[in-house]
Amino acid sequence: MSLQPRKILVTSALPYANGPIHLGHMLEYIQTDIWVRFQKMRGEQCTYVCADDAHGTAIMLKAEQMGITPEQLIEEVNAEHQRDFADFLIQFDNYYSTHSEENRVLSEYIYKACRDRGYIATREITQAFDPEKKLFLADRFIKGTCPRCKAEDQYGDNCEACGATYSPTELINPRSAISGATPVEAQSTHYFFKLPEFTEFLKEWTRSGTLQPQIANKLAEWLDAGLQEWDISRDAPYFGFEIPDAPGKYFYVWLDAPIGYMASFKNLCSRRADLNFDDYWNANSEAELYHFIGKDIVNFHALFWPALLKCSGFRTPTGVFAHGFVTVNGKKMSKSRGTFIKARTYLEHLDPEYLRYYFAAKLSADVDDLDLNLEDFANRVNADLVGKLVNIASRCAGFVKKAGGRLSKTCAEPELVQRFIDAGDTIARYYEQREFGKAIRDIMALADTANQYIADKAPWKLAKEEGREQEVLDICSVGLNLFRQLITYLAPVVPAMAQKAELYLNVRLGWHERTQLLLDHEVNEFSPLLTRVDMKQVEAMVEASKEAPAAPQVSSELSKDPVADEIEFDDFAKVDLRVVRIANAEHVEGADKLLRLTLDLGGETRNVFAGIKSAYQPEQLIGKLTVMVANLKPRKMKFGVSEGMVLAAGPGGKDLWILEPHEGAQPGMRIR
Ligand code: MSP
Ligand code: ZN
Repeated sequence: MSLQPRKILVTSALPYANGPIHLGHMLEYIQTDIWVRFQKMRGEQCTYVCADDAHGTAIMLKAEQMGITPEQLIEEVNAEHQRDFADFLIQFDNYYSTHSEENRVLSEYIYKACRDRGYIATREITQAFDPEKKLFLADRFIKGTCPRCKAEDQYGDNCEACGATYSPTELINPRSAISGATPVEAQSTHYFFKLPEFTEFLKEWTRSGTLQPQIANKLAEWLDAGLQEWDISRDAPYFGFEIPDAPGKYFYVWLDAPIGYMASFKNLCSRRADLNFDDYWNANSEAELYHFIGKDIVNFHALFWPALLKCSGFRTPTGVFAHGFVTVNGKKMSKSRGTFIKARTYLEHLDPEYLRYYFAAKLSADVDDLDLNLEDFANRVNADLVGKLVNIASRCAGFVKKAGGRLSKTCAEPELVQRFIDAGDTIARYYEQREFGKAIRDIMALADTANQYIADKAPWKLAKEEGREQEVLDICSVGLNLFRQLITYLAPVVPAMAQKAELYLNVRLGWHERTQLLLDHEVNEFSPLLTRVDMKQVEAMVEASKEAPAAPQVSSELSKDPVADEIEFDDFAKVDLRVVRIANAEHVEGADKLLRLTLDLGGETRNVFAGIKSAYQPEQLIGKLTVMVANLKPRKMKFGVSEGMVLAAGPGGKDLWILEPHEGAQPGMRIR
């Protein structure tokens, strides 16, 4: 090709570093990866970067809960995410983290540029504050009773029971979801980005073909209603970047998250001589920049982000492409139904290319939700990939091998093969426009034609007749040339299958190279390209997903909770540990976490409040032996005096276990 390759930079949204990747996320990474592979296959200079979104309160709290530092948490999750993506054949050019030096430098640069041009404002705001944790509380960290339907334990801004939306100050008996304390109001200075000043720019930008029509319309409503200044600061303690001229203030996670796209690319540039950061990000850059995102984060990418870029002198995106949400069997993914499926759980049961194919077959350029119907999934993959596509190759391969493994010197059906080659131009257009479903529909229609051709010619019949070997080879050579076209077109969707086909066909699959027919060409040993989906595997995956998903695994319990400072034997000997029988256990009116235990020490009973309600029903405990600290100074609590403590292990919540001594032990025995 004489044309200069296009320079294209592509991103997927950066997944939060506090949880595992699930099949909802995978839709986005699969969609983006297919598009990128298509561009690369066409010879464009296309670069795909991503990263973990590593900042924010949720990550800080999660690490604290696990007893590790946020840095440790994000490192472990990053490794886990990268494994999941690699196993789904997502081929990033770089996968980085927003908690990086490049990102700190770029975030500070962009902030200072906006500030120096007068687009940062500061003012006092009043906000809910956790007096125990000394932490400002975002709405989702406040819980209480719904003011409308009185359902308990509802989050700060909406009720899951009745759907009401409200402000956290309207909650009855509001509590901090972190400490349980009653929030108070407190003042603090916040930093704001003057978004309304960019209204005219955004009105034009959102209408300039950068967005899908549905999205542009939605944004037009917001723009007409008037934009608000955007609060970009959070108070310490916060896991993120400190604002340069404001000690104790941090950039809100959504400020530095999209800058993470730039930072990941910058990091890649440092080891790739063919990529230059400024070529891609300067205000006058001619490179194309595309963000693939879910529909829930459009405002961040199509309002705040272009305004920030504009304000700080960088180029703006060429396109922002939003997709809809994944539902499973027609419903929102649910842990209890087993349809909240983690990427890892899927991979333990099924081939990643099944899902890549199914998503591709159902994807379009719009923002509609996409249903993963598990039965349809199995049927479709079996019918299309195995029944139609693989079938063409496996029907022909045996005869070619028998004829010596070399394809015919001339093409017996040049027009038919040409039709397949020509169809590639339309298919390419569909890929380019993200109309993957239409591309797949065309490819499968061609597969039907190819199968029909082979069925009509019935080489297996001719093979039984004498002297018709050449004819058989000619038919199968046409069949394999047709297969070559089809697998070329499908390569962005099923790259591992395409690689196996490359090995067999002994040719590099390329979009432009496809016009060269395989004539007088030696092929290799044929090996199966893909096996059928078994509904049993699908069921096993759903079953495995039904367990409450565990927190991200850390390498060892010990690393979460390092051994405490050394003590003398005498210190230890002071602790009087006793075997006790739980004579009674009951709920405590008004207490979230506590159970009241009556402990029998063999002659004496104690009243102890234990914070194990999340893990045990009272009736499960009665009659059990356990271990208590018997000489702990009695403590006056809200619900009465607690005379000692029982011992338990585990991270908390449901995962908490009291110690249970062997049955031979007797209440009152001392533990030494
Ligand atoms: N960290 C932010 C993105 C920052 S980008 C500068 C975030 N992370 S996320 O982990 O919640 O989501 C990552 C992407 O996955 C988002 O584009 C989101 O829309 C998408 N999806 C998350 N759940 C999804 C489904 N159930 N279905 C389809 N996409 C989903 O948002
Ligand atoms: Zn309610």
